[in-house]
Amino acid sequence: MRIIIEKDYESLSKKASLLVASQILLKPDSVLGLATGSTPLGMYKNLIEMYKRNEVDFSKVTTFNLDEYYGLSPDHPQSYNSYMKNNFFDHINIPPFKCHLPKGNAKNVVTECYTYEDKISKCGGIDFQVLGIGENGHIGFNEPDDSLNVLTNLVDLRSQTIEANSRFFESSCQVPKQAISIGIATIMKAKKILLLASGENKAEAIAQMTSGHVTTKVPASLLQTHQDLILLVDEQAGKLLK
Ligand code: F6R
Repeated sequence: MRIIIEKDYESLSKKASLLVASQILLKPDSVLGLATGSTPLGMYKNLIEMYKRNEVDFSKVTTFNLDEYYGLSPDHPQSYNSYMKNNFFDHINIPPFKCHLPKGNAKNVVTECYTYEDKISKCGGIDFQVLGIGENGHIGFNEPDDSLNVLTNLVDLRSQTIEANSRFFESSCQVPKQAISIGIATIMKAKKILLLASGENKAEAIAQMTSGHVTTKVPASLLQTHQDLILLVDEQAGKLLK
């Protein structure tokens, strides 16, 4: 694992965008795994600016998002599909048919999970996976548990996650209680992983995921066994790192 500690959120976002852009420069038809939430917003903003300056070309890139709320249609304002369009896809030259997210309103969720996983493998797997981390150590929506899903699955969100995500909704009772999330193996099979964390509220999760021990109670701790992981944190999120 390579650990990079940046001074603040702004420099973390700048570095994250440079790492993603470098991946695309080296492999223009990269398959990117993407995350939503607050953490990657600065990275997306910088990538849009780089695109406008002709420094990066997304026309051959394919993307797969980590997750989507179950029960929300793609055009729901709080869906991750809407988030990705508003914060990234609508501002760059990526063809819409190359942007993939699980369908939160799929009639048959089992088929949807299988189909999503299958699409990822047919594209050759993920070249470069961007991850955030939950305060409880979740990655994607793989929540701490006695066992974890290997592949894409319907998952129950923990109350802590629902509470943390209620800031995007009018109240916590509007936050969906389930999501479709890619599995641990889908993430671990990515050729490179970039995990971003900013702020003091992530410091404990970052300390635990670098502890030298692996446990399903801290799903991100499994990343310690990945061959090519960059952990990019700001000083606050990295303050418990030894
Ligand atoms: C988002 C996702 C989640 C978030 C995590 C951190 O697609 O899969 O694992 O990365 O909950 O969210 P923020 O960045 O909002 O703190």
